[in-house]
Amino acid sequence: MNEEKIEELISKLTLEEKVGMCHGRGLFRTEGVERLGIPPLKMSDGPMGVRHEFPDDSWVPIGNTDDYVTYLPCNTALAATWNTDLAYEAGTVLGREARGRGKDIILGPGINIVRSPLCGRNFEYMSEDPYLISKMVVPFVKGVQEKNDVAVCVKHFAVNNQETERLNVEVEVDERTLREIYLPAFEAAVKEGNAYSIMTAYNKLFGYHCSHNKYLLKDILEDEWGFDGVVISDWGAVHNTVEAAEGGLDIEMSVTYDFDEYFFANPLIKAVKEGKIKEEVVDEKVRRILRLMYKINAFSDNRKRGSYNDFESREKVLNVARESIVLLKNEGNTLPFKDSDIKRLAVIGQNANISHSNGGGSAEIKALYEMTPLLGIKMRLGGQTDVSYAKGYSSDKSKKEELIEEAVRLAQNSDAVVIVGGLKHTAEELELKDNALTISKDEKIERYVDSEGYDKTDLDLPYNQDELIKRVLEVNKNTVVVILSGSPTKMTEWIEDTPSVVQTWYNGMEGGRALAEVLFGDVNPSGKLPVTFSKRLEDCPAHSIGEFPGKETVKYSEGIFVGYRYFSTYNIEPLFCFGHGLSYSTFKYENLKVDNNEKMEDIVVKFNVTNTSKLAGKEVSQVYIGDEESSLPRPSVELKGFKKVCLNPGETKEVEVKISRKSLAFYSKQERKWIVEEGKFKVFVGSSVQDIRLKGEFNVNSECRF
Ligand code: BGC
Repeated sequence: MNEEKIEELISKLTLEEKVGMCHGRGLFRTEGVERLGIPPLKMSDGPMGVRHEFPDDSWVPIGNTDDYVTYLPCNTALAATWNTDLAYEAGTVLGREARGRGKDIILGPGINIVRSPLCGRNFEYMSEDPYLISKMVVPFVKGVQEKNDVAVCVKHFAVNNQETERLNVEVEVDERTLREIYLPAFEAAVKEGNAYSIMTAYNKLFGYHCSHNKYLLKDILEDEWGFDGVVISDWGAVHNTVEAAEGGLDIEMSVTYDFDEYFFANPLIKAVKEGKIKEEVVDEKVRRILRLMYKINAFSDNRKRGSYNDFESREKVLNVARESIVLLKNEGNTLPFKDSDIKRLAVIGQNANISHSNGGGSAEIKALYEMTPLLGIKMRLGGQTDVSYAKGYSSDKSKKEELIEEAVRLAQNSDAVVIVGGLKHTAEELELKDNALTISKDEKIERYVDSEGYDKTDLDLPYNQDELIKRVLEVNKNTVVVILSGSPTKMTEWIEDTPSVVQTWYNGMEGGRALAEVLFGDVNPSGKLPVTFSKRLEDCPAHSIGEFPGKETVKYSEGIFVGYRYFSTYNIEPLFCFGHGLSYSTFKYENLKVDNNEKMEDIVVKFNVTNTSKLAGKEVSQVYIGDEESSLPRPSVELKGFKKVCLNPGETKEVEVKISRKSLAFYSKQERKWIVEEGKFKVFVGSSVQDIRLKGEFNVNSECRF
């Protein structure tokens, strides 16, 4: 029905009108066709909330008070919950707010693989593991789109895993790695999530910029995955009219204000008139755009209204924040703190007392409010505990020694200490201009910032934080270190001497409250690391085998051995492994059963998990598979299933995880097929990739190719 209407509309449109729908007419919108009732498409970043409002032709925000919004935990935090229901809930918040702000497309989620811990945009991405990302992104996309009449724009397609030279770097990755590691989450977002639009990456792959990449956009996305949505360029990612038009791009967006000069504006009209591009090619783009408009009810008077800053949304983002916090270490059960034992608490560290929502590049958020760790802790403890704050370290040029001495004095006179350190998210010295595109390549800046446009220079905790932590520990052993960042940092200098360490993230507007609840035991931590924390940068595969960051080209020589796939297979001891996260409860695993009836589509793995503590808690049970006999090298373990279960004290639940037979396959680049070979597969069930509690196996008796 809609398809008929779409064809009718196309037949009435002039070439100029059609082309107007295919490129930016404002920084975040296309042109509509008023005479036919076709609205413009309005977009906004994403993904941690709806970004503040820009005028059509300036990167200086409008600056009114009407665009404060709910600030959601970053994608790494969301992935750290390993809770697919929360991913859906977070999606509903983003979708409702996008619609509430009058948007048609929200530019997110970001789902690129975390290949190196140094990538500046890791915080916007979910994980190093394609399976975990796929499981989280599908409900997230559904949450955004299903009830809100708004579209996601899943980004950045594909292999956009560094910020250095991001506009032009050529990624050298082999076909098998592309298929097994870098594409599956996009495929899941499209095929299972039904994402209505997708954003191309800036970089090049196989010799072509991703926005002109026929192989990616036509052969894979359209033909193999059956995508019938809209392909939108990253802002300024188009370099050639004909290549992009024929390569499968539908809408060109950019960062400059000369909208008529965009490759998909006057040059496209000219190319059609000169016969270099058939008008049908433009028609197909318009068809896809109109189809998206129907999907989001853009022509309907009854379109969803949306809303923003609802109380309900705050509760949802609080729930995500609560489950995202990862208890990395807890020797002697230092945590949870008992509030009645603490008369004087020292809170130390700049990250306890600054907001992060306004940082990160295009993911910046004008948050309605943001609870800092200091605020969260004070709110939680009320007037009965004396909470004092010392900055301890500073990202500006303050006297380091004086800050440390002040912090040590405070720690000495306190019953307990919480140090909140980590990375920065905003950088005065790295002020974004023109959407991060004008930063000089040669700027000599130490980069410790989780932000678009730059990669970090190393894993170190910046601003003398190691020294601060060590000196505070010397005077007060009842110290908890909280790292607030969007990517892993190095902890080796003090980890041995620190009883308790907590990882938190850019964790949304309620992040400070959630952290306090975890520290004081109102919430039992249940987050698990979605990325490996290494001891040293040199241990990470992109740095030890591959390259990071490349300049003109970057070679992914580590192949499929990304993240824990590398650490596990090559026996490299990480600082904290993938899937790691402690609880105040303890869990026992028993009774593994592997049902491998070949008539069934899935292999069914069942086991019992018991909460052996006196506290209710949640456990993420993880199922990894190892292919014992394979004609190609494979990782020793790969995540193929997980389930988050909630258990009361003493309670046992049987957990069932289904592993699809197809997910056992590797990709053969010679045959251009997925292959499941005959032979023995091992099953590992546990609390992290290293904390394996149960082992089993099964045989595949007949080979399968698809
Ligand atoms: C980023 C995208 C973002 C776009 C619009 C680009 O620089 O890479 O993720 O959606 O700008 O702000």
